[in-house]
Amino acid sequence: MTHVVVTGAEGFVGRALVQRLLAQGLAGQPLSRLTLLDLGFAGPHADSRVVQLPGSIADAAVRREAYAVPVDAVFHLASIPGGAAEKDYALGRSINLDATLGLLEDLRGQPVPPRFVFASTVAVYGEKLPAVVDEATLPAPGLTYGAHKLAGEYLVADASRLGWVQGCSLRLPGVVARPGEGTGMLSAFMSLLFWRLAAGHPLTVPVSRDGVAWWISVGRCVDNLLHAATVDPARFTARRSYQMPVLRLTVGEVVDALAARFGADRQALVTYAPDPFIERLFANYPPLATPQALELGLQHDGSVDDLVVRALAC
Ligand SMILES: NC(=O)c1ccc[n+]([C@@H]2O[C@H](COP(=O)([O-])OP(=O)(O)OC[C@H]3O[C@@H](n4cnc5c(N)ncnc54)[C@H](O)[C@@H]3O)[C@@H](O)[C@H]2O)c1
Repeated sequence: MTHVVVTGAEGFVGRALVQRLLAQGLAGQPLSRLTLLDLGFAGPHADSRVVQLPGSIADAAVRREAYAVPVDAVFHLASIPGGAAEKDYALGRSINLDATLGLLEDLRGQPVPPRFVFASTVAVYGEKLPAVVDEATLPAPGLTYGAHKLAGEYLVADASRLGWVQGCSLRLPGVVARPGEGTGMLSAFMSLLFWRLAAGHPLTVPVSRDGVAWWISVGRCVDNLLHAATVDPARFTARRSYQMPVLRLTVGEVVDALAARFGADRQALVTYAPDPFIERLFANYPPLATPQALELGLQHDGSVDDLVVRALAC
């Protein structure tokens, strides 16, 4: 009897995680109940194990209902994205910080401390990255979103020390390939590349062909979230926070892999129109070393070809 709770279940990563949990269960155990939290749902779920709780994770009554049946694992994915959190400080604080603490505190008194996996972000590092980022790099968030996510990592570690949960935070890089146009998201080009070139449609990207980014597919990201919820917690570092391993690739390398898969004519579909601001933010990433994460069993996509396959499988 395994009960799993997913916050932000209707989001990009949440949907992929939910699909996988229903198909594979957790740690080899089928789920008895999967409670989904989000502001709303596109429609009822066909699987009878799914309980949809529309509402805000900031609402204690919603959290109480989610936890009414003993919980084995929580995947906390709900968040206000960086741009929106920067525009509305109060909203960002209430969801990204206060509700994260609420979700942890409300798990006090569960019969067994549940696993708690928190989706943090590479935004914790800030804009001025060192020549190499590694697991000793001190975070210096450049946005309130990153500051609140970093605070969330500490809250997860402290709640674990207190015995409320067995927690772990994973810092996600830009995950591909998010469906849709990603309107308003400055990094939308990273996902659009995959969908447009697969469909044979043209695209102008706001970065140069040599721009370098950190990449992970949504499928590999879900693998890592599930692994963090099942690996022996005695293996976690005291910080309980890990950088997800990534592939560091130029935009051109990703385009080449898409052209190799879908046809050489795809190369001509891409127009490079670098915007210095976007290039600096999303196509200027230094090498990233994650030996602790790899040792724990977290993984990147392995090769650009596998990144393409997994990115388009969502
Ligand atoms: N996708 C990425 O590239 C990426 C990169 C770094 C970090 N992350 C983190 O990973 C997590 C998942 O990312 P995603 O891409 O699926 O995000 P998403 O924006 O697609 O989904 C987030 C979900 O949270 C829900 N949500 C927002 N406020 C809520 C509230 N008050 N109560 C309940 N639900 C609420 C939204 O409705 C949405 O469905 C997020 O925490 C995000 O910060 C994602």
